[in-house]
Amino acid sequence: MRGKVALVTGASSGIGLAFARLWVGRGGRVALVARTASTLDEAARELGPAARAFPLDVQDLDALEALPARVAESFGTLDVIVNNAGMNRRGEIDKLEPRALAAIITTNLTAPIVLTRAALPHLADGGAVVQVASIAGMVPVPGEATYSASKAGLRAFSRAVQYDLEARRIHVGCVCPGPVDTGFLGDIEDVPDVVLSQPIVTAEEVAEAVLRCIDERIDEIALPRRSGRLATMAYLMPDFAKRIRPVLEKRGARNKQILIARRRSMS
Ligand SMILES: NC(=O)c1ccc[n+]([C@@H]2O[C@H](COP(=O)([O-])OP(=O)(O)OC[C@H]3O[C@@H](n4cnc5c(N)ncnc54)[C@H](OP(=O)(O)O)[C@@H]3O)[C@@H](O)[C@H]2O)c1
Repeated sequence: MRGKVALVTGASSGIGLAFARLWVGRGGRVALVARTASTLDEAARELGPAARAFPLDVQDLDALEALPARVAESFGTLDVIVNNAGMNRRGEIDKLEPRALAAIITTNLTAPIVLTRAALPHLADGGAVVQVASIAGMVPVPGEATYSASKAGLRAFSRAVQYDLEARRIHVGCVCPGPVDTGFLGDIEDVPDVVLSQPIVTAEEVAEAVLRCIDERIDEIALPRRSGRLATMAYLMPDFAKRIRPVLEKRGARNKQILIARRRSMS
C-alpha cells in the first residue's frame, strides 16, 4: 500500500475522512474531495503531506470527469477510487421537489458512474474502485424511496462493471452500511423507525470494510452483517419483509427514544 494513491469523495467528514485516516496511516496517499474547501483543507492539514485537497461538487459532472487526470498528474499515479459522497432527502415522494430527487440520483449514482469511467485511463492495472452504498439499497426503505433506488443502482453498477474491468484486474467492491454514527443521519426524530431497528455502526468500522474490499478483493460487505443477511432475505421474500416490518419498526422506535434521551443527556 505504501505510496498508493486513493481518490476519496466525501472525504472531509464521516466515513470518507475515517477511510482517508486509515489509508494514510498505512502509508498510502490520498486525494480528498468534498464541496467545502475550508473543511477539506482542515482534513488535509490533519493528514499531512500524504494528503491533497481537490474541492469539487460531484454533481458538477464536467469537473468530475476531469478530476482523475488532475489527481494522477498531481501524485504521479492513481490506484483506488472510493465513491463515498452521498446525499439523502427524507419524506414521502409528493413532499419533495422533483429537482431534489434528481440531485439524489446525480450525487449517489450518476457521479460514481462518471468518476469510475473517467478514472479508467489513469487507474493502475490491479487497482480498485469501492462504492459506499447502503443497506437501503439491499431492501428499500419507505420514506427514502429515491435514496434506496440510488443505492440499489450503485450496487447493480458495481456488480456488472466488475466484469468489464476484469482484464485489467481492477477490482470493484461495494460496502453497504446500516445506520452510521455521522452527521449524515441528521435529526434522529426524522430517521425511519425501521432503520434504527439495527445497531448503529461507526464511521471507522465502515472505513475498515472499505479497506477490506480493496485488500481482500471482496465484492460486497454489509454491516452490521446480521442486517445484511436479513435485508437479503427480505428482498428475496417481500411477503416475509411485510410481516417482519412491524416488529422491526417497534424495536426501532424503542431504540430511537433511547438514542434521543442519550443525546439530550450529553448536550
Ligand atoms: N451515515 C449513515 O447512516 C449512512 C448509512 C448508509 C450509507 N451511508 C453512505 O455513506 C456515505 C458517506 O456518508 P457519511 O455518513 O460519511 O456522511 P457525512 O459525514 O455527512 O459526510 C459526507 C461527505 O460527503 C461530502 N459531500 C456531500 N455532498 C457532496 C457533493 N455533492 N460533492 C462532493 N462532496 C460531497 C461532504 O462534504 P461537503 O458537504 O463539504 O461537500 C462530506 O465530506 C454516503 O454515500 C451515504 O449515503 C451513510
